[in-house]
Amino acid sequence: MKKNKRILITGGAGFIGSHVVRLFVKKYPEYEIFNLDDLTYAGNLENIHDVSSAKNYHFIKENIVNEKSVLELFKTHKFDSIIHLAAESHVDRSISDPMAFVQTNVIGTLNLLNAAKSLWKDNLEDKLFYHISTDEVYGSLGESGFFLETTAYDPQSPYSASKASSDHFVRAYANTYKMPTVISNCSNNYGPNQFPEKLIPLCINNILNSRPLPVYGKGENVRDWLYVIDHAKAIDNIFHHGKNGETYNVGGLNEWKNIDLVQALCDIVDAKLDNPKDHSKKLITFVKDRAGHDERYAIDASKLMSEINWKPSVTFEIGLSKTVDWYLSNQSWMQNITSGEYKNYYNKQYQTT
Ligand code: NAD
Ligand code: DAU
Repeated sequence: MKKNKRILITGGAGFIGSHVVRLFVKKYPEYEIFNLDDLTYAGNLENIHDVSSAKNYHFIKENIVNEKSVLELFKTHKFDSIIHLAAESHVDRSISDPMAFVQTNVIGTLNLLNAAKSLWKDNLEDKLFYHISTDEVYGSLGESGFFLETTAYDPQSPYSASKASSDHFVRAYANTYKMPTVISNCSNNYGPNQFPEKLIPLCINNILNSRPLPVYGKGENVRDWLYVIDHAKAIDNIFHHGKNGETYNVGGLNEWKNIDLVQALCDIVDAKLDNPKDHSKKLITFVKDRAGHDERYAIDASKLMSEINWKPSVTFEIGLSKTVDWYLSNQSWMQNITSGEYKNYYNKQYQTT
């Protein structure tokens, strides 16, 4: 029988977190879901407006860097599980401001670990600290090979170094204090509600505004893309069936060179808008490469698929089509978040006026 869990989900107003919150609130009415988010530029309550009045949903605005408040929240709400997604998540921003990534991704994770350790003490039955991480901790692959759970960590950007550090702390707490933990490391997500600093929503938004589509370097870097709702389902399965102390890689079995992906996206948008053939491809512009740009990521997800019974349910063709449909029908969502801070970020990153 399912227990009435009290689950803290951090970062639930962000891209992936909002899909995880929605899935848990709707699928498990017997659980109490506490969404803790500081609503940074990437956090947006509009992402989860449809569940905001559910009886089993509670929102807490707090910064995980705030040690005392995090401890107080654990005392007040007596969480018995954590699914930790809150993070600074964008590689380009980590290159211009690494310290923000150390604060949230490392110190913030430690504050959550310490609060859980202090409240759970020796009563660890049915407790779980589930840490959501990234395939970027493994570094960069050449033309062949895949990331396995046993691949040595080799982070190459300030973002991935901060995520690797947080993963190490989670494992250290499991080993030293016997904290029940699970970690999953996922490849690139795409889908509704992704902030338009990331490649796919940035290109969709730029196509709709007839702006250049900035492709870094020669566009030959490879990423392994997974539909966000399939990631949320993997998180659900791992939360309920993952083994204590284990790591699971999550991936889309779906590698694309950036330039091929951007061209495919142009074709999809053009078809949906009845644009002439190759209309949007004319916007593709090769720009200065990202510093230290990882060449290729590719996940071997066979452990998750065989032990936890998960596989991607959506093909890339369908997932991209659904994603474009969502952005076309939610243009006010995009307009609300691309005013203000986004404009400053965009002009600085892409040096436009
Ligand atoms: P996101 O940037 O869209 O959302 C992050 C959320 O965390 C936002 O709602 C933000 O307000 C919140 N947040 C940031 N700093 C905070 C702080 N100090 N205190 C409280 N809340 C804070 O990120 P995302 O893409 O949804 O990624 C979620 C998690 O998944 C991250 O841990 C990321 O490393 C990991 N991940 C992301 C991807 C991907 O492709 N996006 C892939 C693998 C793993
Ligand atoms: O692999 C998982 C990671 O995927 C997550 O941990 C990160 O949180 C998430 O942001 C994502 O990182 P990437 O750096 O791979 O994603 P991004 O969308 O920023 O870039 C995807 C690829 O596209 C990458 O090779 C860089 C390139 N790119 C990106 C942008 C924003 C461009 O060519 N032009 C762009 O303007």
